[in-house]
Amino acid sequence: MIALGIESTAHTFGVSILNEKKILSNVKKSYVTDKGGIIPAKLAEHHVEVCDEVIKKSLKEAKINLDDIDLISFSQGPGLGHALRIGAIIARTLCLKTNKPIIGVNHCIAHLEIARLLTKAKDPVLLYASGANTQVIAYEGKKYRVFGETLDMGVGNFLDSFARYLELGFPGGPKIEQLAKNGKYIELPYVVKGMDVSFGGILTNIKQKYNKGTKKEDLCYSVQETVFSMLLEVSERAMAHCDKQELVLGGGVACNSRLKEMAESMCKERGAECFIPENQYLVDNAAMIAWLGLVEYKAGIRMKINETEIRPYERTDDIIVEWR
Ligand code: ATP
Ligand code: FE2
Repeated sequence: MIALGIESTAHTFGVSILNEKKILSNVKKSYVTDKGGIIPAKLAEHHVEVCDEVIKKSLKEAKINLDDIDLISFSQGPGLGHALRIGAIIARTLCLKTNKPIIGVNHCIAHLEIARLLTKAKDPVLLYASGANTQVIAYEGKKYRVFGETLDMGVGNFLDSFARYLELGFPGGPKIEQLAKNGKYIELPYVVKGMDVSFGGILTNIKQKYNKGTKKEDLCYSVQETVFSMLLEVSERAMAHCDKQELVLGGGVACNSRLKEMAESMCKERGAECFIPENQYLVDNAAMIAWLGLVEYKAGIRMKINETEIRPYERTDDIIVEWR
């Protein structure tokens, strides 16, 4: 079965084609800025502008004609309405044009399922650390349950906001990682509440420190050490609570080498395994959407076109996992 997946929850517009055995193509174009953050209306314009090119390139790389596709899937939520709407419209158009089935999938679960496909992880805890999302997720009783999450912004958006304050542009995570290499540790607030984390107070604190003359490099270094420790503390407790021996990382922030290193060392210390897919499958990508669509379809899930409305606030634990 050949599935085409469309990712369009935020800054990335992607199209991937795969079958049960192989990812045939995984093409994307992302909205970036030199200064300032995402403007939703501009983001939608970006996706409309690049969609034709991305679809054609994905078909070409996969050496597949549109008529050979057996299933169309797309990110139904959660995400930015402006972006989701473009992906959904394109998915519906392709579905009507080809007369093939359509499935809208949950973006967060797709991050976890692609990690299960590409690594040896069978029943992992997922630390999903991206721009808008920060959740610790594990499977229990027919659902992917959220064991801990951010109480305010996602860790990526937090890093991006700080980077914007330092006028480093978007995305800010990689720029903070670079500056951190020349920084030293200073103490910052450490905010874990039960199994949840929060970043708003830390953001205010580091902005104040920066205004009072603390070096950018030291702040970047200390931010990484502090917030990654918070994320891994919650992940470790979820692993202990659920008695799971595997951790997988997902989301764009997981591209960060320091987070990878800290995750690996935490797992090593507790005799667990840490699995990290390659970066192109950590960031938002369409392969995970095509894959989850295929998995759901094979499990018997079907969707009518009038059920393909976007779901910007869909929660990971709203979905009944019929495929496990
Ligand atoms: P979501 O999945 O919530 O829709 P998203 O659209 O923001 O998230 P991702 O591609 O998963 O998408 O992640 C992007 C985020 O990852 C940005 O906030 C970016 O700053 C961050 N990021 C990317 N590379 C790094 C890095 N090396 N270190 C830290 N953060 C990074
Ligand atoms: Fe994502």
